[in-house]
Amino acid sequence: MLTKPEDAASTLSRQFRTARPAVAIVGATGAVGAELLQCLERRNFPLASLRLLASARSAGKTLTFAGEQIVVEELTEASFEGIDLALFSAGSGTSKHYADIAVKAGAIVVDNSSAFRMYPDVPLIVPEVNGAALATHRGIIANPNCVAAIATVALAPLHSAHPIRRLNIATYQSASGAGAAAMEELRESTAAYLNGESYQPRVLPHPYAFNFFSHNADVDQESGYNGEELKVIAETRRILGADELPVGITCIRVPVLRAHGMAITVTFDEAVTPEAARSLLTDAPGLKLVDDRAANRFPMPSEASGEDDVLVGRIRRDLGDPSGRSIALFVVGDQLLKGAALNAVQIAEALLVR
Ligand SMILES: NC(=O)c1ccc[n+]([C@@H]2O[C@H](COP(=O)([O-])OP(=O)(O)OC[C@H]3O[C@@H](n4cnc5c(N)ncnc54)[C@H](OP(=O)(O)O)[C@@H]3O)[C@@H](O)[C@H]2O)c1
Repeated sequence: MLTKPEDAASTLSRQFRTARPAVAIVGATGAVGAELLQCLERRNFPLASLRLLASARSAGKTLTFAGEQIVVEELTEASFEGIDLALFSAGSGTSKHYADIAVKAGAIVVDNSSAFRMYPDVPLIVPEVNGAALATHRGIIANPNCVAAIATVALAPLHSAHPIRRLNIATYQSASGAGAAAMEELRESTAAYLNGESYQPRVLPHPYAFNFFSHNADVDQESGYNGEELKVIAETRRILGADELPVGITCIRVPVLRAHGMAITVTFDEAVTPEAARSLLTDAPGLKLVDDRAANRFPMPSEASGEDDVLVGRIRRDLGDPSGRSIALFVVGDQLLKGAALNAVQIAEALLVR
């Protein structure tokens, strides 16, 4: 059952203890942290106070929120005193160490890392898709992998009308998915390439300018799948509530600054026409249809960047499946927003006392 993000609040058993939560961002200086600041401001999140936390490297720096300069503090075990909402985006190790400390201090944690995503008592939430699962949590809520979050926004309206039997996905993932340093590496290596200079990659394993390569996550030597692909498979199943769903996937890093693309072939239990799929995706929550065959205009990272909505288009019959049960789509979403910060803030909004 699809829900508008704000509707998820009605099902909650555990919300913030106050109507105006005190908020902390862990990893405020990172790529996701910067977007969390902007999302909270732009969406007028009713916060009582904002604490910005990062490593000792960033302590003393200032960041701007709603026209005010806030000094970044070093994350310590005492950082969560008085905090109602802790938005974590500082990697799995930091989440594993500090999330329980934040919960013990009385905060609800919304975690962007992969640390808890498959824990049965930690809901993995895309508010439009499975917001009702927020009803049971023990203080930690997981924000999905960026590909899983973006893909499920487009897949859920189809799946709730016609059960999906199989997925095949190929991704085109941008630099921002690997953090602020990878974005800088793409800028610097592109400038070096255009100037005819050599450039030694520091963040990603291969030359990035005018190149693409298999996702940089570690490869499982037995299956040949990398960590990103395995996350997307497991998380997509969990978010859609389809534990056994067969998912094939190839994740590729492309030289785009932000916004991930994905070509998805969806096979249903029954025949579904492209027209029926298009109609289900039109006006679905969090989605925008960009599907202009006459103009050959479909979703692009340049148009998805900075946009809350996930773009979906190229909706057509999969000619590789003569049974008529398979539809091909192209989906692009800003993974710093729907794949990370926006989704986290939407989860927090659903936890607000109204
Ligand atoms: N980028 C995405 O699209 C995306 C999407 C979904 C989930 N995520 C997840 O979100 C998290 C952050 O990703 P990102 O892309 O924002 O990375 P990033 O740009 O590299 O930023 C990392 C942030 O974590 C902080 N940090 C690192 N180690 C720390 C420590 N020991 N103690 C306190 N703070 C520490 C950094 O602080 P300093 O500046 O002080 O080093 C920085 O603020 C990761 O877990 C990532 O998997 C990212």
